[in-house]
Amino acid sequence: MTTRIPIPLIIVLTLMTTNCSSNSREFGKTPSGESVELYTLKNAKGAEAAISTYGGVVVSLKVPDRAGVLGDIVLGFDDFKGYLLPPPYFGALIGRYGNRIAHAKFTLDGVEYKLAKNDGDNTLHGGTRGFDKVIWKAKPGDGQSLELTYLSKDGEEGFPGNLSVTVVYSLTDNNELKIDYTATTDKNTVLNLTNHSYFNLAGQGEGDILAHQLTLNADRYTPVDKGLIPTGELRSVDGTPFDFRQPHAIGERIGSSDEQIVLGGGYDHNFILNRAGDVLSLAAKVTEAKSGRVLEVLTTEPAIQFYTGNFLDGTIHGKGGKVYGRRSAFCLETQHYPDSPNHPAFPSTELKPGATYHTTTVFRFSTGS
Ligand code: BGC
Repeated sequence: MTTRIPIPLIIVLTLMTTNCSSNSREFGKTPSGESVELYTLKNAKGAEAAISTYGGVVVSLKVPDRAGVLGDIVLGFDDFKGYLLPPPYFGALIGRYGNRIAHAKFTLDGVEYKLAKNDGDNTLHGGTRGFDKVIWKAKPGDGQSLELTYLSKDGEEGFPGNLSVTVVYSLTDNNELKIDYTATTDKNTVLNLTNHSYFNLAGQGEGDILAHQLTLNADRYTPVDKGLIPTGELRSVDGTPFDFRQPHAIGERIGSSDEQIVLGGGYDHNFILNRAGDVLSLAAKVTEAKSGRVLEVLTTEPAIQFYTGNFLDGTIHGKGGKVYGRRSAFCLETQHYPDSPNHPAFPSTELKPGATYHTTTVFRFSTGS
């Protein structure tokens, strides 16, 4: 016996299915009229990550607390227009070169390349229009992953080579946001890709992060000058406020008179990870007592920038109208050392034609007691 389904019902059912699988919506339009999409990834446990094609921004990331209640733990904006304002780089993909390049220039193969000075005398996060401000081409996966691609043309922001970049975000059933970065070039170039999410494990806009406990798998860090450019020294963290080899509250030593803390206005430093080769290994762990949320950061990168939102000053009102005050979030940006193109002794950030750049970073969420 065949059951006849009335045609109007078929239409409704088709629309519903289309809607479920599409998991995207228009987030807004750029000033030049380009459409920006927002993709939502969901895993089997109900965790959610919303990612924008503008800047590859992680707009929201909802993970459970110890009672199983989902909370959005990254800073950002409800309205796309927020992302067009001068950048704190909330949630964005950063390139071509994450962090600073001194005096906005570097020399490669005997040629000097000049970049934009967008941070005093230096280049920060790729220049005036870095990867955080471009529109990425999106290819959704199975509802739990999203592939973003971008072709950065030879000479863009002053960098050599046509650079073809692919970033894949995956939200695993283990409550991990995994980011895979791949790139190839047709000319020798330098690059340092990262993601600039601002985390507050108590929930975005829920006060400062000073009581969060941090562990960093780093014996050394790169001290900076007053422009936050590494001096070249690799300094031991031993006996300093930079020693997070055992868990410490982020705020415990942030007011110290240590010269480096003063220069950074808090923590804004590159930590050199203890690791054996390029394998994915644990770089950092952060716990927040009230929510019970735990974040572990694993990476194949040699270093991590720990930044405590020192430049946030309460003027930004983010999602749900929350005021983002000083130190209301922390960033753990997996990366190569800042200003590496000007420091031959640092691990190289060069990419040559024929080679493939590939790095992986995992933000793993769980809950503890
Ligand atoms: C830098 C900070 C900077 C912030 C941008 C971080 O990666 O280390 O110095 O202010 O990005 O908002």
